[in-house]
Amino acid sequence: MKEKHDSIRAINWHDDSLFLLDQRILPQQNVEIELTNAVDVADAIRNMVVRGAPAIGITAAYGVVLAARLRYQQSADNWKQLIADDIKILSESRPTAVNLFWALEQMQQVINGIDGDPFAILKAAADQILEDDLQANYTMGRLGAALIAADSKAVLTHCNAGALATGGYGTALGVIRSAYAEGKINHVYADETRPWMQGSRLTAWEMVQDNIPVTLLSEGAAATLMKQGKISWIIVGSDRIAANGDVANKIGTYSLAVNARHHGVKFMVAAPTTTVDMNISHGDQIPIEQRSQEEVLCCGGQRIAAQGAIAWNPAFDVTPAELVDAIVTEKGVVEKPTLEKMQQMMGA
Ligand code: MRU
Repeated sequence: MKEKHDSIRAINWHDDSLFLLDQRILPQQNVEIELTNAVDVADAIRNMVVRGAPAIGITAAYGVVLAARLRYQQSADNWKQLIADDIKILSESRPTAVNLFWALEQMQQVINGIDGDPFAILKAAADQILEDDLQANYTMGRLGAALIAADSKAVLTHCNAGALATGGYGTALGVIRSAYAEGKINHVYADETRPWMQGSRLTAWEMVQDNIPVTLLSEGAAATLMKQGKISWIIVGSDRIAANGDVANKIGTYSLAVNARHHGVKFMVAAPTTTVDMNISHGDQIPIEQRSQEEVLCCGGQRIAAQGAIAWNPAFDVTPAELVDAIVTEKGVVEKPTLEKMQQMMGA
């Protein structure tokens, strides 16, 4: 059953194909792309048709389903060897979101136990990954909203950690949807999030679709907004959380966290445990994706930067655990994260 303010689903399976809402052209166009093989799924992840850590993982799981159908048709005896190439291609699509590697590992374990036609079993496993993510978001929504005081007024978010970035409802936007439904906040501020504009294109679209008032600002305006006392919490998602609670998320998150601490604004990270990487002890071990210079030098396909200038374009940054007030997962809330608290939460 859907919650309030919960109308968007970006990853859909019907007619034996995977359909992705094309997030490159939202909100101007609302178009689904049909995918039937793993190479096209990997391209869709790399090229940002689908993005956001949990959504990348779910999509890759469906990529394995599509690959298994083709490989089993090619060779009922040898499909498990053949599909290893597809899984490798999927794993190389984007490096930072650990949900991708988690989901592929889940699917590999299911593959190991299959005897016979894999399609129905792998489709059920991918459906379960999506459903579990959705349920985790509903749980995080309730847990995160419980941290927000009754008269908080407005919160600020960065990038898009919403329904579009997950199986539905969202991580940071799930908390925001829940807090808004409970009447604790009456407004959302969203950073536009250069260079891909996930804030102005995607977060704003989600909020408008689900009737939550939203105001956009350029990242550079966030500190002034905090100084004016307009923000009670900054709420963001994550692509990978290290064992000590360091948080990788969309570039610009770190400077928000520094500014939040300076202005006495609380900083919340909402992410499912599929985003937690206990194999990495510190955030400086998280691989940070470098994307093309053109994404910064151009806007809407048109060059805006001076000819001759070059650009630096890391897609993510790492916020140290000491700047994080709360990590909200479906297994519970970790306040002021440390290795010990993270271990306890993950073991729970
Ligand atoms: O480059 P993107 O759009 O995939 O980056 C997405 C983010 O940084 C999100 O905040 C993160 O993946 C969490 S999504 C619930």
